[in-house]
Amino acid sequence: MEKEYILAIDEGTTTARAIIFDHQGKKVAVARHPIQQILPNPGWVEHEPNEIWNAVQTTIATALIDSGIKPNQIKAIGIASQRETTVVWDKKTGLPIYNAIVWQSRQTSRLANDLIKQGYKDEIHKKTGLIISPYFSATKIRWILNHVAGAQERAEKGELLFGTINTWLLWKLTDGESFMTDYANASRTMLYNINSLEWDEDLLELFNIPRAMLPEVKSNSEVFGVTKNYQFYGSEIPISGMTGSQQASLFGQMAFEPGMVKNTYGTGAFAVMNTGDKPALSDNNLLTTIAYGINGEIKYALEGSVFVAGAALQWLRDDMRLIGNTPETSKLAKESTNQDEIYVVPAFAGLGAPYWDNQAHGTMFGITRGTTDKDLIKATLQAIAYQTKDIIETMSSDAKMPIEVLKVDGAASANDYLMQFQTDILGISLQRSSELETTSLGVAFMAGLGIGFWKDLDDIKKNYKIGKMYEPEMKDSVREDLYSGWKDAVKATMAFKH
Ligand code: G3P
Repeated sequence: MEKEYILAIDEGTTTARAIIFDHQGKKVAVARHPIQQILPNPGWVEHEPNEIWNAVQTTIATALIDSGIKPNQIKAIGIASQRETTVVWDKKTGLPIYNAIVWQSRQTSRLANDLIKQGYKDEIHKKTGLIISPYFSATKIRWILNHVAGAQERAEKGELLFGTINTWLLWKLTDGESFMTDYANASRTMLYNINSLEWDEDLLELFNIPRAMLPEVKSNSEVFGVTKNYQFYGSEIPISGMTGSQQASLFGQMAFEPGMVKNTYGTGAFAVMNTGDKPALSDNNLLTTIAYGINGEIKYALEGSVFVAGAALQWLRDDMRLIGNTPETSKLAKESTNQDEIYVVPAFAGLGAPYWDNQAHGTMFGITRGTTDKDLIKATLQAIAYQTKDIIETMSSDAKMPIEVLKVDGAASANDYLMQFQTDILGISLQRSSELETTSLGVAFMAGLGIGFWKDLDDIKKNYKIGKMYEPEMKDSVREDLYSGWKDAVKATMAFKH
């Protein structure tokens, strides 16, 4: 019998990937394609939806060709995608009426601020688990309907559809037959009630978004549709897993139990904690979101993001020109001889949870005439770890659950210096999985579960392999001292407004 595989599509903010996994969860083919960032105005970020679709098609073809795997050996497809990014398209022609507005884009800041001023903060938090922000889809849909001539009227007539990237890709793969999303992606729109599990009528009215534009919401693991044979090289393959990128990596890290947490170190860092069957609302502005829903069981999560993680290393490389590439920061930091008395606070995009200061700018403290490039590199890596500690501590206290192990993934989780400092400053173990592409792996598991390729979560767990454990070696007194220095640095950063 020919071997059987699962294909994961991971459509991220900067790169689309197609990865093929076998029954042991082993990666057998990987293809990547960059996504062009369109920056029409300061703070705006857009993508071209058809370029995304083309990039996904290219990566699928490349992964199949390179591996020699035949299209019909793929038993199911899973789609993980950048979340919140908003596409509105014409139902008949399939043509987008505007670029995709990316989650990072700030073009709807005014709309979000108005809602806060009008006093909707608590209602929206209770219903959606989210903080009012231009980050989420609702204000982006409103913006498109406001700015494209005739769009509101067409939406009301049922001629336009809205989707996040997962929905757009599903619609394309099935040639318009399946118009659906999943719990995890729906929970990032700011229109979905995470308690009643339905599009919230009051919020649709508040944003004046016609119900007909919205996709049907399904669980994360079931058949959403089947590829048209002309969209998948002659084969009709079920798409049976779908979720957002951060929930996918939580799943790929097998964080199935309450209290389990993962942190993905990418451009930013996203920490997500499984909090179990009931939504836990944060007192410190962490987000409450749906982790996954499978076989009628819903798991909720708390999420906190560090805005600038790997981006701080890119800054060292591209702007400060202190390094040639980001991986070498591990070796250079280890060569620094200072005693950790320098703090870099990379508040390049303000400060996120738990500080939430939009006006803050980056700062440096403790430099002397003897400070070297290596010292600054080390302090920048440490800042990623300190910011992660800020979030992990908030999470643990909001969820009232102790955190014993932090599961890590993402590109910068390969940075040995950063990981050792992270475990030291947290005082808990770090567990890096052997597969760093946990987003793809997670959605591949969901897709496989959806067609019985894997039986249940226990069957999936057999495939988890720990890559490396990191254990704290720092004395408690040193940890406390260093962290209190960080807190002082953040305080001074927030006080500096010029
Ligand atoms: O919320 C945004 C997040 O989903 C970013 O996605 O896949 O680019 O890391 P990604």
